[in-house]
Amino acid sequence: MKKQKLIIFDTTLRDGEQSPGASMTRDEKLRVAKALEKLRVDVIEAGFAVSSPGDFASVKAIAETIKDSTVCSLARAKNQDIDSAAEALKGASSGRIHTFIATSPIHMKYKLQMNPDQVFEQAVSAVKYARNLIDDVEFSLEDASRSDFDFMCRVIEGVIGAGAKTINLPDTVGYGFPEEYANTIGRLIESIPNSDKAIFSVHCHNDLGLAVSNSLAAVMKGARQIECTINGLGERAGNAALEEVVMAVRTRKDIFPVETRIETIHITSTSRLVSSITGFPVQPNKAIVGANAFAHESGIHQDGVLKFRETYEIMSAQDVGLQTNKIVLGKLSGRAAFAARLEELGTHFESKTEMNEAFAKFKDLADKKREIYDEDLQALVSEVQLDESNGDQITLEALEVISKTGRPPSATLTLKYKGESYDSSSEGDGPVDAAFKAIEKLAKSDTELKLYSVNAVTAGTDSQGEVTVRLEKGGRIVNGQGADTDVLVASVRAYLHALNLIQNPDRLHPQLDGI
Ligand code: KIV
Ligand code: ZN
Repeated sequence: MKKQKLIIFDTTLRDGEQSPGASMTRDEKLRVAKALEKLRVDVIEAGFAVSSPGDFASVKAIAETIKDSTVCSLARAKNQDIDSAAEALKGASSGRIHTFIATSPIHMKYKLQMNPDQVFEQAVSAVKYARNLIDDVEFSLEDASRSDFDFMCRVIEGVIGAGAKTINLPDTVGYGFPEEYANTIGRLIESIPNSDKAIFSVHCHNDLGLAVSNSLAAVMKGARQIECTINGLGERAGNAALEEVVMAVRTRKDIFPVETRIETIHITSTSRLVSSITGFPVQPNKAIVGANAFAHESGIHQDGVLKFRETYEIMSAQDVGLQTNKIVLGKLSGRAAFAARLEELGTHFESKTEMNEAFAKFKDLADKKREIYDEDLQALVSEVQLDESNGDQITLEALEVISKTGRPPSATLTLKYKGESYDSSSEGDGPVDAAFKAIEKLAKSDTELKLYSVNAVTAGTDSQGEVTVRLEKGGRIVNGQGADTDVLVASVRAYLHALNLIQNPDRLHPQLDGI
């Protein structure tokens, strides 16, 4: 039987960015968008254009760059939001406005303070307004899984009549249960007279760990678009993980009536890119992209896999682009080999200067580390691109740390800020603490350190340490990252990256004010 198309709508750059601390700069978002295009995602939700000038600029840059995926902006059911989304999407080869309003009794009463008739009117008029500006309009009934069935039928029929081509039914608070959620979607499709004029879509949050199950169950009842994120990033417990949805549909071809156009071999590199840009590490036992997802520990399993892979593996590591611990480059590798491998990993340099800087760092790393793996290259490129995108902000010039048994560790460092160099030193409870205190003597940032974590990029004591530092100031949370074979240097870079990020202005949050 011919399979139907399942549209993969990626919202890593919008809902994913709503994970506390996951905010990305315009250049970082552009890098992720290019990786998503290479992965052959159908729709990239690039941001929420009206929420901040930074988000507007990101949506615009992505719309002007991406050719093979539809680029989408979120907009509340407000003319001002829709105008801003349409303006940001002007340069897109294929653009979509995704407008929404909440339809559950609890959201309408307490958040919107509107009655159902007002919500209905607002929904229909927003879709009409958007359709005058763009052809492709998606409408979401926020908190659909807690909305009244008959009211949803009324709203959906109205917005399809007004020109919405996709109807999205978010499980906004992760409350849905697979059978119940899927049956509701099936019944909506059956009951609404003009339902054949739109694609039905799902958008599930993972508060009860059911986001992927709910999404896939809905596909069995007629949903033909899944909204998801790389690594399951997203508001609170996150959204359905793209890699899990895609690999489930591919692995269980025998039961799913649909197929996607995703190039699964780019899954691992995209996952690593998103993790290193956002500073959200992937848990080792995470399905598909966790470090242990294809590792067999037990002797019985290893023996079985060696005799016949399918005894314990339902998909192959190669299918998701995982080539663990493959030595790719070394000290004698030239610029062409370096550039070619990065191209394969989906990395593009914006300028010759960036490429030269990355190559210089690679040579530097190859002096300290004999074998360079893909993971090393990705960490190194992230470092270079962070530096590039942060322009004239605070950077590290020099660092000396003294750590002796029986004596408190001390750190002396030089930082550069807007062309000037500043020295500082401090003792601390450990070498990292001493370095952070020395930075704070200069920065006086008034931030609170929420998380400090180190992850070895590869095996071996010469591995680069990839450090994440999470800082909070006035309720705003940011994650900074740094990577180096010297963990102290990586730590200082991560701290400075977080300090630089915390300066960025606040964005408006789509769910705080639904209308
Ligand atoms: O979770 C949600 O309801 C959303 C909508 C804005 C689509 O993210
Ligand atoms: Zn959401």
